[in-house]
Amino acid sequence: MSVHDSDNLPSNLSDNEHFQTVVDRVVSRRGFLKMGAGASAAAFLAGAASSAVAGGPPLHALDRMPERVAQKFSRRKVKMGFDAVPANSGDAVVVPTGYRAEVIAAWGAALFANSPAWKDDGTNTGADQGRQVGDNHDGMHFFPLHGNSSKEGLLVVNHEYTNYEYLFGAEYMSTWTADKVLKAQNAHGISVLHVRQHKGLWDIVMNSKYNRRLTGNSPMELTGPAAGDDLLKTTADRSGRRVLGTLNNCGNGYTFWGTYLTCEENFNGYFGTTAGVDARDAHMRRYGLSARSSGYRWEEFDDRFDYVKEPNESNRFGWIVEIDPFDPNSTPKKRTALGRFKHENCAMTLSEDNRVVVYSGDDQANDYIYKFVSDGKFHPGNPRKNRDLLDSGKLYVARFNDGGQSGDFMGVGEWILLDKAENPILAASSAFASQAEVLIKARLAADLVGATKMDRPEWITVHPESGEVYCTLTNNSGRAVTDTNDANPRAANSFGQIVRWREAAGDAAAIRFEWDLFVIVGNPVAFPDRSDLRSGSGNITVDNTFNSPDGLAFDEDGRLWIQSDGNFSSAGVYQGQGNNQMLCADPESREIRRFLVGPAGCEITGITWTPDQRTMFICVQHPGEVGNHPNRPTSPVGVPMDAFLAANPTAFTEWPKSQWSDVVGGGRPRSAVVVITKEDGGVIGS
Ligand code: FEO
Ligand code: CA
Ligand code: CA
Repeated sequence: MSVHDSDNLPSNLSDNEHFQTVVDRVVSRRGFLKMGAGASAAAFLAGAASSAVAGGPPLHALDRMPERVAQKFSRRKVKMGFDAVPANSGDAVVVPTGYRAEVIAAWGAALFANSPAWKDDGTNTGADQGRQVGDNHDGMHFFPLHGNSSKEGLLVVNHEYTNYEYLFGAEYMSTWTADKVLKAQNAHGISVLHVRQHKGLWDIVMNSKYNRRLTGNSPMELTGPAAGDDLLKTTADRSGRRVLGTLNNCGNGYTFWGTYLTCEENFNGYFGTTAGVDARDAHMRRYGLSARSSGYRWEEFDDRFDYVKEPNESNRFGWIVEIDPFDPNSTPKKRTALGRFKHENCAMTLSEDNRVVVYSGDDQANDYIYKFVSDGKFHPGNPRKNRDLLDSGKLYVARFNDGGQSGDFMGVGEWILLDKAENPILAASSAFASQAEVLIKARLAADLVGATKMDRPEWITVHPESGEVYCTLTNNSGRAVTDTNDANPRAANSFGQIVRWREAAGDAAAIRFEWDLFVIVGNPVAFPDRSDLRSGSGNITVDNTFNSPDGLAFDEDGRLWIQSDGNFSSAGVYQGQGNNQMLCADPESREIRRFLVGPAGCEITGITWTPDQRTMFICVQHPGEVGNHPNRPTSPVGVPMDAFLAANPTAFTEWPKSQWSDVVGGGRPRSAVVVITKEDGGVIGS
């Protein structure tokens, strides 16, 4: 979570919540659900293991499914063969007994033979940063080399943002320069890292032809229906097709044809104006551009980030970008058919007829969940044919209805088509001149058609066998009592929940689905009365309590891995929850067990495996963000905390150096990849 983010503040002022309420009341589905609301809700909250509700999808969902689809959901229990790690507020990555952790690819590490050496005093230049591993590691994916190697591959890593208190030296921001802007831009983007395991340890292959940095300035192409639209044209690019850079690369996805998908999230934070007045239009406000100065202050030296000088530049961010990691000379493509919003991550699956389906959430309080369905079909044996599948298809946004009963944390849903020609509401609207505008202003189109405002949609993942889809809803302090519903059941939601859905007839291209909550995250330490929703659903206990689920992924065996990016004060409503962490869950029994705790001030995010699942990679992002951590240092009276940390970067944490003394450089806190293996060489989590 960045200090520059405004994702906890809703920018969605549309009134479509009321529209949904009306639909729910008018379209009565009473009798549709075969299980009484009272019984199922009670069982869900109690977490009763013997109840059908406690494991797998609700009975009513199974009853309605065709036999072949229901079989998909008759899952075996996955093995979670590790002892839970206790919560703590310490300063190390803690893994279960029998597991090992090592660190690679820390911010500023070399990835080229001629990468400039890391300077621990923060004085590396902008050009230096462009030849080093970026900052604030997030989503990532391991692409095996040599067929299906689990010892060697390309690890592609997102660099979401950067922390100025640690990015610059003691001089910090006392003079603001073009080179500092360049350094910040080069700390963003992607690292493609050729990695190899040697004598049990992983490292970057320094002279590999695959190693690559993409930054906030790397040439990219806009493709798909919106490419070339007037709204994408700027002074520097009259074509509306050539853009420099990718920014705020949060979570990721990957394709079935061996490419990487990076998701541009809080791109709004880089745009402001030196004009001194708020000149934003409604579209810019809806996407959250800064009214005046941006937190990153790029607009002072780089005109394209001044929205008054270049009103269309921000329209060129907020996309999903496809990158071919195996071709270091390839140009990344921003796939406009998937819509423009604050993409958290994306998850790909296939429809019954082999069209490509991509889910993605828009991480802002009261924003939406989207789905793209390609026009073309996936050809397993012909990667060339798949190359541009993401350039043509239908974009939908989700409506989560309560169904026949309210208060049972389940219901039915529908995918609403965002198509200028085929959706009568959009066809009648003068707000969108074309489908290109619908895609560029996807949030505004979704507002109009009555999508459901969610509690900050984060990562989405698809179960490897059943196709059931899971999405983290991290928290939403702004939800009012009058705006709660079954999918977002709590006002002032401090803890978050995970929603999951099953597409009609098991077809990912369906336009209807059934959904239920997998977990209502909460804190039974702070709220021992289990009838209080803040204590969480029955699968939350005093031993696994946490807040703000964010990263989310299934492994190939069907274990669900949950990562947190939330409040690490371990006090008040968060007491006993400790630092941000990673947990493992059984989707069938709903059991959740803590697997890992991160160091002070970090979030845990990004997850990928080698094909044999015997190596897991995760990221520790922004160690040292003080927030309200119990061990935060005290800055002298009158000295802002960030300025204090800039002068005293090791005052709070020295991770990763504090945990691994062989890390090159000093103790400045640095985001990094953490590699997890099992001492007996087994599958992670087994
Ligand atoms: Fe980049 Fe919503 O986390
Ligand atoms: Ca319901
Ligand atoms: Ca995240």
